[in-house]
Formats: sequence, C-alpha cells, structure tokens
Amino acid sequence: MTTTHESVATPDGVVAPRFRPPAGASSSATLSLDGEWRFRLFPHPETGVDHAERGEDWDRLAVPGHWQLAEAPHAWPYGVPEYNNVLYPFPVDPPHVPDDNPTGEYRTTFRLPADWPEGGRTLLRFEGVDSWFQVALDGELLATSHGSRLPTEVDLTDKLRDGGEHLLAVRVTKWSAMSYVEDQDQWWLSGIFRSVTLEHRPDGAIDDVRVHAGYDHTTGVGALWVDAATVVTGPGAVAARVAVPELGIEGAAGEELRVAVEPWSAEQPRLYDVVVTTDTETVTLAVGFRTVSIEDGVFLVNGRPIKLRGVNRHEFDPLRGRAVTPERMLEDVLLMKRHHINAVRTSHYPPHPHFLDLCDRYGLYVIDENDLETHGFLGESWAGNPTDDPAWTEVLVDRVTRTVRRDAHHASIIMWSLGNEAGGGRNVRAMADAVRALDPSRPIHYEGDYSSDDVDVYSRMYADSAEVELIGQGIEPPLERADADSRRRAMPFVLCEYAHAMGNGPGGLADYDAAFDRHARLLGGFIWEWIDHGLTRTDADGVEFAAYGGDFGERFHDGTFIADGLLLPDRTPSPGLLETAAVFAPIRIDAQPDGTLLVRNRYAFRDTSHAEVGWTLHRGAEVLATGTLDLVLEAGTETVVRPPSDLVLPEPGEAPVWWTVRAVQHKAESLEEAWLEPGFELGAGQLLLVEPASLTAPAGRVSTEADGGFRAGPARFDGRGDLRELAGRTVHDFRVDAWRAPTDNDRRPAKWQGSADEEKWREAGLHLLAERKNGVGVSADGALEIDARIAGPATRAGFATRYRWQPVTDAPDAVDLVVDIRPEGRWPESVARLGVVLALDEPTAAETGVRWTGLGPDESYADSKQAALGGSWQHTVADWQTRYTHPQENGARRGVTSAVLSFTDGTGLRIDAGDVTVGARSQLGIELSLRPWSDDALDRAAHPHELVPDGRLWLHLDAAQHGVGSAACGPGVLANAQLHAAPVRMRLRFTTL
Ligand code: GAL
Repeated sequence: MTTTHESVATPDGVVAPRFRPPAGASSSATLSLDGEWRFRLFPHPETGVDHAERGEDWDRLAVPGHWQLAEAPHAWPYGVPEYNNVLYPFPVDPPHVPDDNPTGEYRTTFRLPADWPEGGRTLLRFEGVDSWFQVALDGELLATSHGSRLPTEVDLTDKLRDGGEHLLAVRVTKWSAMSYVEDQDQWWLSGIFRSVTLEHRPDGAIDDVRVHAGYDHTTGVGALWVDAATVVTGPGAVAARVAVPELGIEGAAGEELRVAVEPWSAEQPRLYDVVVTTDTETVTLAVGFRTVSIEDGVFLVNGRPIKLRGVNRHEFDPLRGRAVTPERMLEDVLLMKRHHINAVRTSHYPPHPHFLDLCDRYGLYVIDENDLETHGFLGESWAGNPTDDPAWTEVLVDRVTRTVRRDAHHASIIMWSLGNEAGGGRNVRAMADAVRALDPSRPIHYEGDYSSDDVDVYSRMYADSAEVELIGQGIEPPLERADADSRRRAMPFVLCEYAHAMGNGPGGLADYDAAFDRHARLLGGFIWEWIDHGLTRTDADGVEFAAYGGDFGERFHDGTFIADGLLLPDRTPSPGLLETAAVFAPIRIDAQPDGTLLVRNRYAFRDTSHAEVGWTLHRGAEVLATGTLDLVLEAGTETVVRPPSDLVLPEPGEAPVWWTVRAVQHKAESLEEAWLEPGFELGAGQLLLVEPASLTAPAGRVSTEADGGFRAGPARFDGRGDLRELAGRTVHDFRVDAWRAPTDNDRRPAKWQGSADEEKWREAGLHLLAERKNGVGVSADGALEIDARIAGPATRAGFATRYRWQPVTDAPDAVDLVVDIRPEGRWPESVARLGVVLALDEPTAAETGVRWTGLGPDESYADSKQAALGGSWQHTVADWQTRYTHPQENGARRGVTSAVLSFTDGTGLRIDAGDVTVGARSQLGIELSLRPWSDDALDRAAHPHELVPDGRLWLHLDAAQHGVGSAACGPGVLANAQLHAAPVRMRLRFTTL
C-alpha cells in the first residue's frame, strides 16, 4: 500500500462500491462501532505512531464527530474550524498540501458478539471520513480511502478471530490531495463524522441491489426490475427473489414485474416495500414507482411537468457541524415540507444516506450531487484544474460511481449532479459517461458545463429574473457553437442556485417564481441556501453566539458569507423562509388588479380536495363575517373568486377592512403527513375592501411656552423647533432619515455585482445625515412649522423638509405631523429609506408591547412581501427584532395604518398614519420599525448578542424603504422595489394613552 495523502489515486484495499440499504432494512447482522474512541492529534501525517499502538492513555473523542468540535461550544483543543468559500487556504500546488497537516489517530477495540453469524464475510463500513484516511486492524494496514462524503468498505473477514478482541486504528489527515476536489463553500471540519459499522455478509447475501421502478402514466402500470447481475455473490450463489407483498407480485431478480400501482411523487410519496430475498438474507426497500423524462424541453415526472421549488442543503448542525443526527435530518425535511419546499439539491456532496430515506418517505425531489468542487482553481483561470487533468480521471469517476451506486434506489432522486463549481474539462465527459452507464434513467446536471455538452438540463446560478424570462421563452443569446446551442435550447432550464438568502433576504423571489409558472421550459430552482452555518461558541462571558468566518481567529477566511441561509443556525425560520413558503404555496391566491382573487392549484398531481378554502371579512383583528368557498381545483387549474355579492361592508373606520382567503389542509392524508399542524396553510391571499377613514383635519393651535418653546398636544419643542418631549418621554434625534444599517445584500460582498448600494449611500453621507433649521414659526392656522434641510457631509445633495405640527381639536392628547420631504441635488441611484426617525427615553424599551394594524405578523420589504397579510398583530419590541446571524436592518412592518405602543409603566403612545405619498404614488400606511438600540449600534454589532438596549426606544416611521434584493451573490434590488430620492409626504398622528 504505497499511496499517501498526497496521492492522486483511487481508494486502495476497499470493497467495490455498492448500494446502501437503510438502517434495519437488511436481515443481516450489523454492529455499530460508534461511540467514544481513543484519539490523539498530531501536527503532521507522519505521526510516529504505529498502527499497533493502542492509545490507552489518549483522549476520548466521539465518533461520529469532527475533532475541531470535540468540546464545542466552549473549547477547541484540536484546532479551530476554518471557513473558506472559494479560495484554498493553502498554496495551489496540487497534489501537495502543507506539511502542517493536523492528523488524527483514532483507536477503538471491538469483539464480534457471541451471536455473530458463522461464515460469510464481515465488512467494516465508514459512511464518511474527512479527508484522507488509513484503516488498520491489529496493527496491519488494510486500506486507504478518501471521498469525505462517500462510503468506504473494507473486508475484514480474513483478519477476524472468533471471540478475540481487535484493535481498529484509523489515521485521518485534515488536508490531502483530495482537498483540491473538496473545496465546497463551508467550514473545513475533519474526522470520522459519520457512523462506522461492521456488517455481516452471509454467503449468498444480497450484496447489491439496483432497482428500477418506473411508472407508465398512460396505463397506470408500474414496472419493477431489480438487477440480478450483481445481487448474489459468494459460493454457491442462489438467485434472489423479489416480492412486493402489498401488490401481490413476486418474481426472480432480473425479471420485470408489471402491476398497477400508485405512483410516487414529492406531492404524494407513495412507497411500497420491495422485499429481496435469498436463502441467507432479506432486504426490504421502500420503493417508489416513478418515471423521469424530458420531452420537448420540458422536465416531466410521471408524464407531467413539475416545478422544483427547492433549496440547497448543506449538512449542518451548530454544535456538530456535518455530523448531523437523524433527528436533525428529520427536522430539516419536516421544516422543508412545512414551508412548501418540494426539492433539495444536496449541495455539494451526497448527504448522509438516511436523509435520502426521509426524502423518499416524506416527498422531496432530490438532485444528488457528487462530492466534487475545485473552485479554488478559478483564481488560476482554471489552470491545473483536476476536472481537466487525465491524472484525476479515475478519482473523479470513482467518486461519481460511488455516489450513484450508493443512492440509485431512491425514488426521490430525479437527477444526478456531477459536482459544483469544478470548471470544465475532459473529466466532465468521463463522469457523465460513467453515470449514464450506471443509470440511464435519470438526467444529468452540472452547472459548470457551460455549454451543456455533457448534461441533460441547462443549469445556471444567480441569473436574474429578466434573463430567466428570456430563457423561459427560449430566446436567450446563442452559444457560439450552433450544435451545442440547438442542443441546449431543447433542454429544460434549472437555476441550481438563486435567491441568495444571506441575512435579510432574499428579495425578488416572487419575480422568479412567476417566471417559473409562465414558462414550461423553466423547471424551477434551488434557493441558496437552507441554513446559516453559524457554529455555536461562547464569548469571554460564557454567552453563546453563532460564530462565522474569523470568529475562531482564522486569518484567511470569508467572514459572514457562511451565514446565508433561510434558517438561522439554530433552525429558527428566518423571515426569508416564511416568504419562501408564501411564494412557493401550492395553492396560490393572488389579488388581481380587477379586485378579484386568482386561485391557482399549482400541484402537478393532486386536486385540492384535501384543502378547505375559507374566507374572513375582518377589520384589523375584528372578524366581521366568515364563510367557505366550495372549491376543488384539478391539478394545474385555476379559478377566480370574489367576495360574496351579498356581503355587507361596513363604513370606513379606524382600520382597513380585508377579505382574506386561506386554503388549509383539514387532515393528514397519510402517515407521511402526520407532521401537518392543524390549520396547515396551503396558500393565502386577500383583498382590501374598505380603506380606513381619513384622519380628521387638525385645527388646534400650538401654544408658546414660557421658556420660548412650544407645545402641541403631547409634543413639546424647544425654541429652536427641536422636538424635546413626546408622550411624557424625552425625545432624541427627531429628524428625516434615509439610511439603514446595511444588509448583507446592501453591502454586496460579491465583487461581480458592481458597486454596493451601501457604498453609494455612504458616499452620499446617508449614514451621517444632519439637520439644519431654516425657520421655525407658527402658521396662521396655528401649526408649528419647521423648515429644515437634512444632508450628509461633503455633498450638495440634501432633503428640503417641512415639518408641520398641529394639535388636534377636541383631542388634547393628540398631535398631527405632516412631513414634506423634497430631495435637492444629485442623489445616488437609491436611498435606503425615506421617513423620520426618533428615539424616546424608555428604560425598558425591549419589553414595550406593540399592537399594529398593517401587514404582518413578520417583517416585509418591498421585494419580500408575499408572506405579509393585512390585519392586526402584536409583539414586544424584543420579539419584533430578527436576530440575523450578522446584525443588519430588520423588522420593517409595511402598510401600518396604526400602532399602539404599551410601555411597561402602563402609559402608551398611539401612532396613526394618514395619507402617504412617495413620488406620484399614494399608499396605505407607513413602514414601521422599532428597536431598543440605534441603527448605528445595529450596524456596528458583529453578532446579535452584542446588541444591548441603550435605554431608548428607536422608531422609524417611513414612507418607504429600498427593497433587499440578493446582491450578496445574486442580482440587486429590481426596479420594482428600488427606492429613489423622491418627494415624500406623510401625515402622522401621535396620541398619548
Ligand atoms: C455559489 C456556490 C455556493 C455558494 C454560493 C454563495 O457560487 O456554488 O457553494 O458559495 O455561491 O453563497
């Protein structure tokens, strides 16, 4: 065995790749070797430790696990996790890696149990070891392997003694030649991170099963064929039998069995137990009958076009890294189902096989991706890239072969992916050929094949929705080579990554989704990505927080770019996930310009008979009438609904009146739907039927105070016109604002997206706006009028502003404010917000209650608003905040017509919004944001736990905010959600309670 960790060679001393049945599916004996192993970390692969060394006095380390996380979240005795996106953290000098290469020596001992069956073979199976490793038994080196997210089996049969104790030694290096092909955007985490088992293989066992379970949608017949060629091995091989008891069919392996079946789809994941038996082993697999095909450029499952509304999922647990538990996998699957996600790309490697069992069972379409990424060669213009180097062909083909062999029996897998961001070259073809030979039934995906020569679907990442629209219409710019162009033009299109969900976002999801619905060629896509990879660690005071790149003192890292998921690291759904659920809703209910609601059944296979469609007429939270709509839509059909003609609408009052229609699933239809919560929402939409009554015109008079100041109801001003007091609280910093604590998307770490919004905003001084008063006086009708100019340093641009405060007649506790903002001079293409900011002294600001009428209950932005519905909602100021892993603008509630703040001392403040216009557009309500800290503090904080209430309640009352986009990697804010410096007028009323 001469290979080293720097060899470009396939694994040595290992068993040929084969399928992996789910845990418990085989009748053969297995023995888990998971548990506490003995462990020592050495600085170099030449550890100086013999494989026979027992390591009795070494440390103890949990297998499966990563050594870097052994004592997370408190201590890092074996080196820290390091985060890199694209660039290799070592010199690009393949296949060499640094001498400083932490190497773990693992030891465990085992005995075969007394009842371990006689005869046959015993295999040692590793589900995943990162990165390169050697396996020795009783001091003898038996195998070397790699392929961090791929299985390795070693035949121990001849080495095992009955009843004897055996010493298993595994040496694992952190870096190896294979690090060059495992350059995925994630933490570098090492060790035996998936389970280790001993597997008994009786003579005549079922060593490999290849299942083909197709479905003919024209006849309803399923065709089951279990490959016999490799089913039986061992002396005196006997033919395997295949049976599906539920269907009453049985036959020999290799024989095609045909019978009427219910097909499998992600919508209705029907599985049948297929029992494969020989005299010595029974394997029971949950098999789904389904056929994937591409016809006329359209991707079909069981003859019907489907849309992938998917996410990219990395394996991640905030304490355990990629050593995810079955509970976590289930949590992911259920969270996806609950948020109408129907597809997963296993970015960027084959997941733990149990995850695929769950996808089969609960219904998720899967692109299973090979463990291959060489992105770091991008900086070298791909020179020396393994993907184009014949020296690497065998290794890369071996990887993709192991992927397909392990996973091909899963119904959920609808495509194979050759890898991610590994450039182009001859090995793409070699891998594609290998996959086609193993499994011609599934299309091949690889985004890095730019002219789509070797793949079956046209795949891109981060194309904007306008380009996607062109591709949908089939009128995208041609490829240079005419043959490649016509081939690609006949392919379905998938966005393997889009809607980069970093921090506050993604914005613009609905624009993509609408394009998917418009064009048959568009198969849909996968949001980047499922979860923020924030690793839990404690700070000096023992407070836990989610750490990102650099938080472990790494010197070469990519910072916050690891936190770009729809889930916060602790799996709290972010507002982006709630938006995703609303955009992906299978029963979409959308308001139409003609005052109706369009209800669309977007299932490919099911009608809507499992859904109850109910409506509510409500004013804020007050329900005025309810009803149901007798509605069953066939798959793919739509209808228009409108409020009943005899509905009695109330006169305009304080709050708007909405007609809200919701489709909810009334009962679980199968065991697989047991996760449904009562009232599980399949879609919702609403119409605004009655606008609120306008605020009465104020006609009170401001009074002049003895100190030269002014009073207008609950508002007090000094002689300069500065607002000093409101609702009995001291006011700080009342003025016009156009800035926000930049989101990750505003910052745009992605160089290819042009200059960042944030940069332009800072150039225009939006973060340092200051006010100069031009005049203060009382108007003829009794209002306090303040003319001011708000501008940043070093620029002539500014906002000419008039504040007009006027007491409200017969309402001594109320004051009206009309703000007129007129931009002057040259402003950047966008501004963050337009409105006013103020801070009230409030020692318990975080506990302040807020009840508002407007869109909610969660935050929404101009391009992320599908999930927000009109109504009345409540929160505390603390709960109002979204604790993004990297603090940034959050929490805006739009369309707010009134809000009541309840302070802990029993007093309160009510804010009503009257007419609001932005440019030529008038709108209902304002955008409200509340915080117990300033935007400045929010901007400066690196982690949410660093934000501490500053004794003030900060309020933003905005006419509008700029959208959020997804420019951290994808396109910026689209024209339909940009905010430009425009004239703004807002009427607000403040009432002390
Ligand atoms: C893509 C890449 C992903 C991730 C993403 C940015 O280019 O495939 O792995 O890095 O960009 O978050």
